[in-house]
Amino acid sequence: MSILDDLSKIKENALERISKADSLDLLKDLQVEFLGRKGKITSILKSLKDLPADEKKAVGAEANKTRALLDNLLNEKTEGFSQQKTSSSFDPTLPGTPTQGGVVHIVNQVLTDICDIFHGMGFEIAKGPNVETDYYNFEALNFPPDHPARDMQDTMFVEHDRLLRTHTTPVQSRFLETHKPPIKIITPGICFRNEAISTRSHVAFHQVDGFLVDEGVTLADLKGALVAFCKAFFSEDVKLKFRPSYFPFTEPSAEVDISCFLCKGKGCQICKYAGWLEILGCGMIDPNVLENAGIDSEKYTGYAFGMGVERPALLKYKINDIRLFFNNDTRFLRQFR
Ligand code: DAH
Repeated sequence: MSILDDLSKIKENALERISKADSLDLLKDLQVEFLGRKGKITSILKSLKDLPADEKKAVGAEANKTRALLDNLLNEKTEGFSQQKTSSSFDPTLPGTPTQGGVVHIVNQVLTDICDIFHGMGFEIAKGPNVETDYYNFEALNFPPDHPARDMQDTMFVEHDRLLRTHTTPVQSRFLETHKPPIKIITPGICFRNEAISTRSHVAFHQVDGFLVDEGVTLADLKGALVAFCKAFFSEDVKLKFRPSYFPFTEPSAEVDISCFLCKGKGCQICKYAGWLEILGCGMIDPNVLENAGIDSEKYTGYAFGMGVERPALLKYKINDIRLFFNNDTRFLRQFR
């Protein structure tokens, strides 16, 4: 059999196998088998030197043609496979990779809920600085220097006379000074106290105070506003208990307990089996506070109240550790969508 016959058989065999090849690996193997350094076509080309001149020319031409043909086919098919591979790795019908959206912090959600309710009752929002002067935080609110009531709030001082406000009540002193009655505001914000951090207290926390100053404001107005708030925030059937208390800036002063909205007053773990939960302080604004701000206390009276935000949030969502609010563990925070 002549070399040309050999060559044509090799070519036929290669063409058939290349056309049937169904993987990149197979194509690679065929490339080695036919066109590699020791490949079948390569061997024929190498053997040309031993052939007589006329045969050398014919075989050489045919072998080169075959090599080019196979090379083209292999390349084409390899390219086709590679493209298929990349296009098949992209499946447009697959659901997208979800991105984790942010969540409004639960304390801010509760703060907003509280503000929304009071806003619906006609209260405007007022804000004040976090770093306060001793005057607005204490003195204007009827805490004279060295007054023992200052011990109720363990204060962090920034420098002499500058402190981190211990409550949001100083916004009242600032606002009364610069506005004329009727005044009806709430003052949401962060406060700071030098407390030992525990499950129930933290050095930073939020409060909302509220103030109404006008002619003829009475304790009945205060009770009406707080009952309406508690019904909207906790539940329609909530009961309120006003316990006499003391704050330098209100007279008379009271603390408000609500009937436990979980056990409805029967007693449970949340209310420590008391049936009642303490939620805020309030009272009629002390005439001294009005006078300090230049408001005629003979003509005007006012009520005030102040509540923490973390505590109702803990109660409402049955969370047992206030520190969870500040650890910023997103697994905790994401639960409150
Ligand atoms: N500022 C008080 C506190 O942080 C809470 C408070 C009580 C605010 C009575 C008031 C109020 O406005 O009238 O303990």
